[in-house]
Amino acid sequence: MRNIVLTGFMGTGKTEVGRELAKLRGLRLIDLDSEIEQSEKMTIGEIFKRFGEQKFRELESEMVEKISREQNVVISTGGGTVLRQQNMEALKNTGTVVCLTASPETILERTGSSDDRPLLLVDNPLEKIRELLQFRMPFYEKANLMIDTEDKTPLRIAEEIIEKIQNSQDE
Ligand code: S3P
Repeated sequence: MRNIVLTGFMGTGKTEVGRELAKLRGLRLIDLDSEIEQSEKMTIGEIFKRFGEQKFRELESEMVEKISREQNVVISTGGGTVLRQQNMEALKNTGTVVCLTASPETILERTGSSDDRPLLLVDNPLEKIRELLQFRMPFYEKANLMIDTEDKTPLRIAEEIIEKIQNSQDE
């Protein structure tokens, strides 16, 4: 099996599902946001505050290029990673790209008010989620597989992903 790449909006469970997938398949989990935080020695919130989103996107693309060279890994990306075509191309070359989905209401519930998601620190986060989701959907839909996460545990989602990848390889 090639690398598995998890994409999808904030709060769709990419990190938790990544952990389960890594355990089930004996792969190493690489979390893109954590890698950026470690290399910059700053939280994502701080990077946004001090340097702005554009700089964050540049760091994100550099990190995508670097981790796409790894093997036997599950890569959990950030919610906006797939917006840049060069990122999507690198991710598709390294593995099967899986997009996790959830409704705007569920996303709001799962994200709460955290400093890690500077884009949702607005007066009406639900409206912002709807707006961003609508704009981003065509980018998310470029994934090899779309998986609905509503009312499912991270383990069940991970099992579903493995099954679907195996089925697609048998075809
Ligand atoms: C972002 C999602 C975040 C993080 C940054 C930007 C986005 O990652 O990369 O705040 O643009 O959707 P998560 O999806 O892991 O929250």
